[in-house]
Amino acid sequence: MLVNSFINQDIISVTQFDPAKLEYIFARAHEMRQMVEAQNGNDLLKGRVLACLFYEPSTRTSSSFIAAMERLGGSVIPITQGVQFSSVSKGETLADTVRTLEQYADVIVLRHPDVGSAHVAAEYAHVPIINAGDGAGEHPTQALLDLFTIWEELGTLEGLKVAMVGDLRNGRTVHSLTKLLMHYNVSLRFVSPEILRLPLTLMNEVIDHKIDVRETHDVADVIKNADVLYVTRVQKERFTDLAQYEEVKGHYEITPEIMSQAKQKMVVMHPLPRVGEIHYAVDNDPRAAYFRQVKNGMYIRMALLASVLGK
Ligand code: CP
Repeated sequence: MLVNSFINQDIISVTQFDPAKLEYIFARAHEMRQMVEAQNGNDLLKGRVLACLFYEPSTRTSSSFIAAMERLGGSVIPITQGVQFSSVSKGETLADTVRTLEQYADVIVLRHPDVGSAHVAAEYAHVPIINAGDGAGEHPTQALLDLFTIWEELGTLEGLKVAMVGDLRNGRTVHSLTKLLMHYNVSLRFVSPEILRLPLTLMNEVIDHKIDVRETHDVADVIKNADVLYVTRVQKERFTDLAQYEEVKGHYEITPEIMSQAKQKMVVMHPLPRVGEIHYAVDNDPRAAYFRQVKNGMYIRMALLASVLGK
């Protein structure tokens, strides 16, 4: 029996999710997919209001939360086109901003450049806060949609070889997905330039979980055996030294030639946006799952909004 343990809960970190909770959210996301495919939307959240508060740019996360709320019959306060048009530009603190928005909204989705900001917001707000990315910290709803995509594409989360490529130091989606994958019997391969390696604390967590793990600089070392190739962008916005960014940007590009060495049954994923990490010629390969992954984001966020709002 699947139980909703998310009612009125903040969603701040993937550490809140165990396999039972993941199973619950994935089952609900799957139901949301079936409902949207059959009837486009419903009135499950009619009369409920979501505040979308984005201090950093976003296309997918902001749009998919808005689409999720609207497909469930709810409404949105969209502060997503730049907080410079809100009273944040007058110096209003995050604490006061969320205490204001909760006067109008039943749930707040927050993206902010500072690690720990979602946690701070949750301390002040009395409505659920959903972390939509806190700096180089976490992006839990992205990790949920990533894991859901693996499950939908490959039919299992057990026994998989998952290779993550790119900016593993700054990529918060990598950090969050790695933490979720540790619940399962997986092998992890981390592919990055030396300066973009996975943070040591997270690598030690992986090792403590007795996960089969290896690091390499070369995609060729992992492509033949990977079930999942999770490619990420070098996060320019996290570099203080742009010369260093220039050195490592464009380090990897997944091309049809590289794909020709991969298994027939595997998936290529990317949280997007991409800036050259996957060649456009790969897009028509049936293994390219990144736009299906985008759509799964809406289903996962529908499941989360319904769950935290007790529906
Ligand atoms: N994947 C992701 O978080 O995309 P956006 O930055 O466009 O929201």
